Amino acid sequence: MISLKGKTALVTGGTRGIGKSIVLKLAAAGADVAFTYRSSSAQAEEVKSAVEALGVRALAFQADAVDMTQATEVMKQISEAWGRLDVLVNNAGVTKDGLLMRMNEADWDFVINTNLKSVFNYTKAVMKTMMSQRAGKIINISSVVGTMGNAGQANYAASKAGIVGFSKSVAKELSSRNITCNVIAPGWVDTEMTHVLSEDAKKAFMDSIPLKRAATPEDIANSVLFFSSDLSNYITGQVLHVDGGMVM
Ligand SMILES: NC(=O)c1ccc[n+]([C@@H]2O[C@H](COP(=O)([O-])OP(=O)(O)OC[C@H]3O[C@@H](n4cnc5c(N)ncnc54)[C@H](O)[C@@H]3O)[C@@H](O)[C@H]2O)c1
Repeated sequence: MISLKGKTALVTGGTRGIGKSIVLKLAAAGADVAFTYRSSSAQAEEVKSAVEALGVRALAFQADAVDMTQATEVMKQISEAWGRLDVLVNNAGVTKDGLLMRMNEADWDFVINTNLKSVFNYTKAVMKTMMSQRAGKIINISSVVGTMGNAGQANYAASKAGIVGFSKSVAKELSSRNITCNVIAPGWVDTEMTHVLSEDAKKAFMDSIPLKRAATPEDIANSVLFFSSDLSNYITGQVLHVDGGMVM
């Protein structure tokens, strides 16, 4: 069994879907877990209580991942409360789909800022702490769409491919301080984000998945747990597709 006892973690967008599952998975492994959320205080309270029920500490921060000042403030408060940060999971993400012909500048900016700038914001916010600890694990949630592209998701695909280039650069820059940076690229995961997909789109996804099912949020959280733990100490700059075989 993987233990994160004595470790601390921060997950962006931790109140539902994949983020919530990651928060609970890391807490169940013994880590103290902080998470951010955009608007739902009630959901945040529920997740915070669920983490504390696992016998570890929890911190919940209402913070827009796009806002660098808020990211810096979140890290400041974690430092004051816990004194260190071992794991950062950049999970917050959105879609605003449409064919490029119809995609407007606001749709582009919204997705790029939420999915990519947020990763820059939080990595910048935590890196000094991790560098002074000479230890840290940064895990960024991309998507198979960043590798394959997808009609109707040019903004999303660009943001998720951007995460890959960013993460490989961070892996190279921070390796001398014993900080790893890896990417998890899920395929189709059964969450509120994908509940809006049309039946045709779902069928097309299913036809392209050798394992013939959507991922559960826990399938993704399991791979985050691995990258958060000492078992991954010699792995950096990698992209792990957790996608039932969609990309191979
Ligand atoms: N569901 C899938 O099939 C799938 C596939 C590949 C990758 N992903 C990625 O996994 C991550 C989680 O997706 P999900 O399926 O759980 O979606 P979701 O919509 O259920 O959850 C997204 C989370 O991000 C948070 N968030 C969004 N904008 C934010 C902001 N500006 N500031 C702070 N938090 C913000 C939301 O509040 C929510 O908690 C995303 O990065 C998504 O792109 C999902």
